[in-house]
Amino acid sequence: MNTSLDLVRVWDLPTRVFHVVLGLCVLGLFVTGELGGSLMPIHYWLGYAVLSLVFFRIAWGLLGGHWSRFVNFVPSPSAVRHYIAALRRGEHRASVGHNPLGALSVLTMLCLLALQVASGFLSDDEISMAGPWAAWAPASWVARATFYHTEIGKVLLIALLVLHVASVFYHRLVQHDDLISPMIHGDKQLNHEVPHSRDSRTPRVYALSIWIACSYAVYRLVLWVP
Ligand code: HEM
Ligand code: HEM
Repeated sequence: MNTSLDLVRVWDLPTRVFHVVLGLCVLGLFVTGELGGSLMPIHYWLGYAVLSLVFFRIAWGLLGGHWSRFVNFVPSPSAVRHYIAALRRGEHRASVGHNPLGALSVLTMLCLLALQVASGFLSDDEISMAGPWAAWAPASWVARATFYHTEIGKVLLIALLVLHVASVFYHRLVQHDDLISPMIHGDKQLNHEVPHSRDSRTPRVYALSIWIACSYAVYRLVLWVP
């Protein structure tokens, strides 16, 4: 087999833009949520943006570039076991896209973000701010959702994000595997036979249209009354 190295597009532009915008929105959500008061309308808008991004990422996991697709990174239980066993032996197995543990943390993060937004829709601070579904939902749902939003989901998200950033730096500093640069410019130096993620103008326009459709779905959800 020919093993010459080439720059291979791993993360297409929509995935990279998704990552930056999601990170900024989540940061903004923690700041506005903790400070509260007049910043709460911004908190809501950022939350709606996060939901549109989660919907987009699910669609892009089906239709996006090769390495962004779920079929190419969701690991089997045995892949996860082998990866952990290799880590324990101190072996480093570089992956093209997300490694099996990274893939699990990405999926968990998307689920936790969706739950955080859903609980935000139902939250009520009992002073002046309430999510759009708090007006019609039973009081017991609103109380549980507010508790989840402010006491559980928030803590789980912080823990996962700390783990996320720590594991990226662990790869960089201990395994000498730079994952950050490819998330910025998209490419990794790999065997040229590794499949490239398609990243031309057409899929980018396609991605923008999908995100607009996802934003419309969020708009409908915000206004939804059963
Ligand atoms: C609130 C902040 C952040 C959130 C919500 C977040 C979320 C995510 C998500 C969802 C992915 C999966 C990307 C995809 O497949 O679509 C990802 C990947 C990644 N993130 Fe973050 N991220 C955050 C901050 C950061 C920071 C600060 C760094 C840099 C230190 C970083 C570095 C990376 C890298 C390198 C990957 C790719 C990992 C791999 O190669 O498997 N992230 N992040
Ligand atoms: C990923 C998205 C979100 C994150 C990370 C997030 C995070 C937070 C945080 C950290 C707080 C402060 C909790 C505390 O006081 O200890 C908060 C409060 C709150 N959030 Fe969110 N939030 C998100 C989405 C939303 C959405 C979409 C809505 C409504 C549409 C919402 C409505 C509220 C309300 C009403 C409060 C005040 C609750 C209270 O003080 O009892 N949040 N959020």
